[in-house]
Amino acid sequence: MAKVATTYVCTECGTDHARWAGRCASCGAWNTLEETLGQAKGRGPTTSAASPLTVGSLTDLAPQELRRLSSDSAEFDRVLGGGIVPGSLILLGGEPGIGKSTLLMQISGALAAGGTVLYVSGEESAEQIGLRARRLGVSADSLKVVTATDTDRIVQTILAVQPLLTIIDSVQTLATDRFQSGPGSVTQVRESAARLQVVAKEQASSIILVGHVTKEGALAGPKVLEHVVDVVLYLEGEKWYGHRLLRGAKNRFGPTDEVGVFQMDEDGLRDVSNPSAVFRGEHTEPTPGTVLTATLEGTRSLVVELQALAVETAFGYPKRTASGFDLNKLQLLIAVLSRHAGLKLASSDIYFNVSGGYRITEPAADLAAALTVASTVRNKPLQPDTVVLGEVGLSGEVRPVHGLKNRLEEARRAGVSSAIVPAASTVTVPGLKLYPVRSVAEAVQTALQAAPVPEEARAA
Ligand code: TYD
Ligand code: MG
Repeated sequence: MAKVATTYVCTECGTDHARWAGRCASCGAWNTLEETLGQAKGRGPTTSAASPLTVGSLTDLAPQELRRLSSDSAEFDRVLGGGIVPGSLILLGGEPGIGKSTLLMQISGALAAGGTVLYVSGEESAEQIGLRARRLGVSADSLKVVTATDTDRIVQTILAVQPLLTIIDSVQTLATDRFQSGPGSVTQVRESAARLQVVAKEQASSIILVGHVTKEGALAGPKVLEHVVDVVLYLEGEKWYGHRLLRGAKNRFGPTDEVGVFQMDEDGLRDVSNPSAVFRGEHTEPTPGTVLTATLEGTRSLVVELQALAVETAFGYPKRTASGFDLNKLQLLIAVLSRHAGLKLASSDIYFNVSGGYRITEPAADLAAALTVASTVRNKPLQPDTVVLGEVGLSGEVRPVHGLKNRLEEARRAGVSSAIVPAASTVTVPGLKLYPVRSVAEAVQTALQAAPVPEEARAA
């Protein structure tokens, strides 16, 4: 028998190590190496008893349309690239309580209309699952529920039941007796996922694994699992808001940068097909300190409202807070506004917020954030229905943003009629008045004067 070597794997980054160490040499994490069984060392190439493979020409491979299983949710299908590919192994990650089980119960209910769906839970009793299903209005004879944590028995059940789709909730509860380590360890999680990958491929039956992620984003060996599965999705959101975003992080059968938007209601997650309306906020009158911008995730743009409130500092040192936005970036923009746009901010407390619990990380929203602050400090609103786009440099220059056309078109669809954009861009969108700006100072001037001069008038 081939000798099986003991190796060590880092639970953070998934790197294999020959020897144990207190710190992973690859990612630098402490105390994350876990013992695992390595690859069996094979025989040399010339002495191998294996027979050669039959190889085919690329041109013989007929391009075939991937048949996909579509759920009732257009948002879920969109993130997957048009539905679940039969035989694919999908990992759905997210913080506990964010709605993974809810989403998958709804997807199961929808797919059960077309065949058998197996829902395996290692976390909840069959009664609890039944209660949730009732609450979600899911009921189908072809939706089978079982509580189990033994990978080998689950594999046998999949072979026996032959489901269209199997849900495993969650992968951290799985274990096989072939290894000593407990459920949730890298060895168990990796082995279980690898076994399920083989079954999925052989049976052309899809499997979705639920994986819990901590606040810091670590799933028990997330990187370890990402290699094994075909698709990695993350469900995110702020618990206090009803919105949930489903993002693709890896997809062997489709795009990775799509985002699906849902609303959590009493009866489960509902598709939000027009998210700009949700994140845009509701203002009938121009309000100082609110500015619209358009973010871009994958091919999808969302119009989001930024809000800022400036009040006089009570005790010497001005306070700045940001929610849904990087505080350091806000401080930087405040510095740029003071230095290059002549705003007096040294004695203002500034509270900054992105509406609807949305989080913005891209620099395309810099200029919008800066104008939000300028607008509250000057107590002047922007012209209503104006979207602002542009990256801001330290010397106050406004730089172009990628995907401007897509963003402006979404803004137009959301009812926006004018846009403050980087002067360097040449994009035009019918029905949208553009105000190109070169610097933050020019943007403040353009945005906060009574009636900004449109491009055509200025050129004349
Ligand atoms: P759940 O799907 O159990 O989260 P996860 O599997 O990711 O841990 O969702 C838990 C939360 O969702 C819980 O706080 C209650 C809420 N919820 C609703 O608001 N509406 C519903 O219809 C359901 C089933 C849950
Ligand atoms: Mg759950």
